[in-house]
Amino acid sequence: MRTTHHLVIGDSRRAPVASGSVHLVVTSPPYPMIEMWDDAFTALDPAAGEHLAAGRGPEAFEAMHAVLDKAWAEVARVLIPGGICCINIGDATRSIGGEFALYSNHARILTAAQRLGMTVLPDILWRKPTNAPNKFMGSGMLPGGAYVTYEHEYILVLRKGGKRVYTAAEKVRRAESAYFWEERNAWFSDLWQGLAGTGQAGSVGRERSGAFPFEVPWRLVQMYASQGDTVLDPFAGTGTTMAAALATGRSSVGIERLPAFEPVIAESLVRAVAIGRERTLRRVRDHEAFVATRVAAGKVPAYTASNHAFSVMTRQEREVQLRVPAKVTGAGPTWTAEYEVCL
Ligand SMILES: C[S@@+](CC[C@H](N)C(=O)[O-])C[C@H]1O[C@@H](n2cnc3c(N)ncnc32)[C@H](O)[C@@H]1O
Repeated sequence: MRTTHHLVIGDSRRAPVASGSVHLVVTSPPYPMIEMWDDAFTALDPAAGEHLAAGRGPEAFEAMHAVLDKAWAEVARVLIPGGICCINIGDATRSIGGEFALYSNHARILTAAQRLGMTVLPDILWRKPTNAPNKFMGSGMLPGGAYVTYEHEYILVLRKGGKRVYTAAEKVRRAESAYFWEERNAWFSDLWQGLAGTGQAGSVGRERSGAFPFEVPWRLVQMYASQGDTVLDPFAGTGTTMAAALATGRSSVGIERLPAFEPVIAESLVRAVAIGRERTLRRVRDHEAFVATRVAAGKVPAYTASNHAFSVMTRQEREVQLRVPAKVTGAGPTWTAEYEVCL
């Protein structure tokens, strides 16, 4: 099996990607009203910066989301019918013109998605506790003076219309891409926590890049795409989504505005080979430990996997075929990865 990974240095508001060619989108855009992204939004629409400078918070918020709306319209165009889009986004708290307020980015994106005809599915609350001493906002201990501490982000889950229809060949790949019963129980929980600190960012650095931990796209890609599918990240940054796709046997397309990220993405893809092997072999070890625990408790899993030497809990897991990346070739903008079956 082979996958391809293609990087476009460009603007996701005009994605050079064919309509209906992407099975899954996993992304994290610049966050409106979070200061580290003010310059990026102002570069994309000077009105955003003008509103901020004039103390017009709601207008700045709207100008920034108008930029993202164009990228979401492209996402809706390039997805296949039934394709899923996962958007990691945090809300912003900020004082503008002396007025403290929450700017609810996730709510605004859901509204935009609904206007585009996307189906909104249950989302994931990603809890990211902070140890910062100044995490409590507002003033002191008197009623009405303080604000709730924000220690979570969202992973919004959207679908283009109804459920995806699979061809015969896609049904085979889908069965091979089954996740384990116990993984389903953790991954499809509405609360994710403890995922910090596993970032993939290279020299651009997690702080400056806003990269998410590898575990986030690694899970999402396996939850919503089959091996061989194509995953798009329209805000590629350091290439974490592309790396997760490569690590799990999915092809990818990344769009990133800043050319400085190109060598970082190349490095992420090369490292994804070793990471993909390690994470997939860890899945097998974890599953075998799970099975051993069940057997010890007298609750032996009911099915035997056809392609592996372990048993599984459900009929849908029987055809699972784990693969690990063997090597990646190419120097950009397109890379190719090859895989070995995992016994
Ligand atoms: C939050 S970061 C993404 C981080 C990424 N998930 C990672 O793990 O590295 C958002 C990225 O989108 C890029 N960006 C912003 N506007 C863009 C646009 N219109 N088209 C393409 N990329 C854009 C920024 O340069 C930045 O690298």
